[in-house]
Amino acid sequence: MRNHFVIFLNGTVEFHMTATFNPNLRETFKYFLILLVGLTNNSQATLSFHPHQNSFPAFTPPTMTWANTWKDILNGGNKRWKIDDILLKKQALKKICTYASATSGESGKDEQKLHILCPLAGDDPFVSHAWKEGHSVFAIDLVPEAVDTLRKNFGEPDDQWTVATLGSSVVWKHKGGRATLYAGNMLEKRPELENKCNAVYDKDSFGALDKNDRKPFCQRLTEFTREGAIVYVEVKNKDSGKEFGPPFHVEKKDLMEEDNFGSFFEHIADLGQVYNFDGPMQQMGHILQRNAMKHE
Ligand SMILES: C[S@@+](CC[C@H](N)C(=O)[O-])C[C@H]1O[C@@H](n2cnc3c(N)ncnc32)[C@H](O)[C@@H]1O
Repeated sequence: MRNHFVIFLNGTVEFHMTATFNPNLRETFKYFLILLVGLTNNSQATLSFHPHQNSFPAFTPPTMTWANTWKDILNGGNKRWKIDDILLKKQALKKICTYASATSGESGKDEQKLHILCPLAGDDPFVSHAWKEGHSVFAIDLVPEAVDTLRKNFGEPDDQWTVATLGSSVVWKHKGGRATLYAGNMLEKRPELENKCNAVYDKDSFGALDKNDRKPFCQRLTEFTREGAIVYVEVKNKDSGKEFGPPFHVEKKDLMEEDNFGSFFEHIADLGQVYNFDGPMQQMGHILQRNAMKHE
């Protein structure tokens, strides 16, 4: 995936932007540029967008939503953040299991089966992979079409799933009892998930959220996890445009702000770059651990 592209304005000005996630900002910026070019050149100028290799998500109005983004992905558009390489999913699960057993004092014993929360899961194959390895999974995504694809990744017949409405969410449960998939908002309170999970897999979730939503997101993770839970986080480090997103440029200090994970989680490992991500970004990993409630 190569999302780094250049905008040429009359051959004199270049802007480098990335377009990996829901590109609201890019869209707004594009319309701003069109207006600017029109005003400064008596509407004679043209604005051209040159992708550096590969395709680039189709432009949409500034109101582009996650639902629109998923429509584009599922219609064969740019895959943006998606990583489907199962080896990388195995690698992530292994890290989670290793830290979970090391911190529970059970290393050396048979691998512990975990209850893994996957917030903002999209259709990430990690979820069905962890389930196939015997773990219990709880996945949440806002967009029903993404959750449908996520569910199909399990390869289970439709009659193995039940579906029900819970508040404003649609909840799919596998009859085996180890997979629960929510089409709903991660920021909502969910009493049935409180204290349920001893691991979290967050790939590009924290970094996809509007900065104002980080606090409620981390509050939900605090509620849904047990003391000692391991949180595996993958975030993007960007070479430029660090203040813009999604995806946002995220460092340890951002994760560990008091309002984010800082109050209820310890940062226990910096995994560095976890794999190569094409384009001007690096995929960085961190391990956090849920501590006892400091503020209760
Ligand atoms: C950058 S994608 C990451 C998806 C997945 N973790 C992955 O890496 O493949 C962010 C996902 O969050 C979902 N999303 C955004 N806001 C959400 C919210 N408030 N609650 C639940 N899902 C949300 C989007 O639909 C999208 O699938």
